[in-house]
Amino acid sequence: MRLLLSTLSIFVILTSCKVDPEIKPALPSDDIRVVVPSGWPQPRYNFENNPLTKEGFVLGRALFYETALSRDNSVSCGSCHQHFVAFANAGHTLSHGVDGKLGNRNAPPLFNLNWHPAFMWDGGINHIEVQPIAPITNPVEMDETLDNVVLKLQQKDFYKKLFKEAFGDETINSQRILKALAQFMGAMYSYQSKYDMVKQGKAQFSASEQRGYNLFVQKCSACHTEPLFTDFTYRNNGLSVNPALQDSGRMRITGDPNDRNKFKVPSLRNVAVTSPYMHDGRFETLQQVLEHYRSGIVQSSTLDPLLQNGISLTDSEKQDLINFLYTLTDYAFLYDKKFDDPNQ
Ligand code: HEC
Ligand code: HEC
Repeated sequence: MRLLLSTLSIFVILTSCKVDPEIKPALPSDDIRVVVPSGWPQPRYNFENNPLTKEGFVLGRALFYETALSRDNSVSCGSCHQHFVAFANAGHTLSHGVDGKLGNRNAPPLFNLNWHPAFMWDGGINHIEVQPIAPITNPVEMDETLDNVVLKLQQKDFYKKLFKEAFGDETINSQRILKALAQFMGAMYSYQSKYDMVKQGKAQFSASEQRGYNLFVQKCSACHTEPLFTDFTYRNNGLSVNPALQDSGRMRITGDPNDRNKFKVPSLRNVAVTSPYMHDGRFETLQQVLEHYRSGIVQSSTLDPLLQNGISLTDSEKQDLINFLYTLTDYAFLYDKKFDDPNQ
């Protein structure tokens, strides 16, 4: 059994290290700066009133991986948002919080957050500096209070030093915690995939990837719009309602029945590594996702008009599309050590 496990883990390491040789990490690990890739829209969040610094990033990283943010000191942000899968939650359809409590949604990946007009699958939170309050206080996630987090951190000398370096004095308060987390998360930029290199004329698509890209532009990009691969709208893409969850999506925020079963269009950057897919993690593979668009669309009054007739795709077109989607994997981001847990 042990032999089998170690063989398996070697296999996992070998396959997960398959780096596209054309793509070199352009950011040295200690380079922390605001990035607006050329041709992209201006981000919503520009670190106004919260200047991005190396010290702020380092504090934010310590907090992101800090289990004291949870009631029983067992769960950190990094428990559900894992760097090696673009900060999604590998293998978890729904996330698990303190006491192994099951959440009601799939943990989305985290990158390019400065461009999001709103956060969560239903857009229920509209500022990156406020967002962490939700997981910290959610009873099925970290189930803690901000006041308690502050008290716990004040007992650690380590944090006095980090807060001083980041903010000029040793004061630890919730506002600084949120600002530091915003610096760490806001510096998670993903813009160096093969797709990006192709756009800059530094790499070429294979014939199949090029066919997949053409299909993508025709059939997908109205919602998964370049360059962020989402237009940040809320749409019903024809999923059946999960009977155990009864999650009405955007309607939970607006109360408007026209928003029933609409969810934020997710970015498809790094989608090759962010399985499982959809707001409840119902699909394990991209093949299943494409089969949904081809043959699984459920009609309803809020179904997006673009998907009334599903999306027609032959088997070989499906494969071309998947090959294109693989070019959205950003190894520079996934292997950038500055995002790793500093405690390990
Ligand atoms: C128990 C698992 C869990 C923990 C712990 C957790 N998250 Fe999440 N995170 C989720 C889930 C699930 C969602 C989606 C929630 C929703 O749509 O209602 C989410 C959503 C987010 C989003 C919004 C992403 C988007 O695309 O809209 C951000 C940002 C985020 N989390 C950051 C954090 C931070 C910072 C922490 C630590 C303070 C944290 N998370 C802790 C599971 C978790
Ligand atoms: C009408 C808008 C629309 C179109 C067209 C569309 N999508 Fe989506 N897509 C969505 C929405 C909305 C979601 C999230 C649905 C949910 O979880 O409830 C989604 C989810 C996904 C996901 C899951 C991502 C994740 O992180 O969970 C993938 C993969 C995907 N779409 C690929 C595609 C591809 C490929 C095409 C073209 C063949 C396409 N989509 C066409 C709106 C659309």
